[in-house]
Amino acid sequence: MGRKKVSVIGAGFVGATTARQIAERELADVVLLDIVEGMPQGKGLDLYESAGILGFDSKVVGTNDYKDTANSDVVVITAGKPRQPGMDRSDLLKINAKVVASVLDQLLPHNPEAILIMVTNPLDVMTYLAFKKSGFPKSRVCGMAGVLDSARFATFISMELGCSTKDIRAMVLGGHGNSMVPMPRFSTVSGIPITHLMDQETIERIVERTRKGGGEIVSLLKTGSAYYAPAASVTAMVESILKDQRRILPCSAYLEGEYGFSGLFLGVPCMLGEKGVEKVIELALTEEEKEQLAKSAKAVREGIELLEKTIEGL
Ligand code: APR
Repeated sequence: MGRKKVSVIGAGFVGATTARQIAERELADVVLLDIVEGMPQGKGLDLYESAGILGFDSKVVGTNDYKDTANSDVVVITAGKPRQPGMDRSDLLKINAKVVASVLDQLLPHNPEAILIMVTNPLDVMTYLAFKKSGFPKSRVCGMAGVLDSARFATFISMELGCSTKDIRAMVLGGHGNSMVPMPRFSTVSGIPITHLMDQETIERIVERTRKGGGEIVSLLKTGSAYYAPAASVTAMVESILKDQRRILPCSAYLEGEYGFSGLFLGVPCMLGEKGVEKVIELALTEEEKEQLAKSAKAVREGIELLEKTIEGL
């Protein structure tokens, strides 16, 4: 088995933090690409130089040239604008669709076999764009959202119960936005559903905080959006793919009938292995959960309609 290679497109807060985690954990060699000249080279070299202290063997290269990304095993796309205060994820759609389309035009000829992990928001719509533009099989295009949303949910559960985050497995379905669907019945502490550990009012409060988790960080930072937890979430997905761990993680995946939806990307539990999304797991949902998921899918579909108006010939 040769060395693995991961390219991270967009060397901003999320991209650079992801590159660092992948390198420090020796998951792969890392190529960090950005449109700004010099910046990815600077961040890449600085990160590589930390190997002199930390002792990791991953190589790190910063670049503006897509040729350097050639034949990556995984490509993580974070290029685009982060959300500003008062801006919804959908406000970003028009700006980021153009950025992502241009990234894909340059990236794809060098990476016909890569697995794409999308991070740019609005996430489910950008993942759909990558799927359509690449013509890749659905297993090789996915989006990072559910891992982040469920990490936030898990952290809030831990804060509430005063217990270790280690034992918490949280599940969030649906689109990455205000209509996401946190799933208390499938969120557990050491296998115990949180519905046995907290009253309904508490659960509703942390579900609501999870839904607004991205916005909470945006309103505190004022000049950008979250990046530590997003980078940790992407890294978990990259690791599951590169090591063929086959973890079951909530990801934005292309649906063809699962959960009753077709032709869109939506957050669902996926088995992530060396081939990418190897399986979508279907959960038996209650009527209320189905309704919430349908609402979320509707919001994603509206985004896709706007995307189709923004990018010609999709
Ligand atoms: N090609 C390559 N890189 C680009 C392009 C492009 N066409 N356009 C913008 N970029 C780069 C910017 O130069 C910047 O370095 O993308 C980077 C984005 O970084 P930040 O502005 O720091 O944003 P970040 O917080 O990393 O968020 C990136 O992830 O979570 C989502 O909503 C978030 O869509 C946003 C994305």
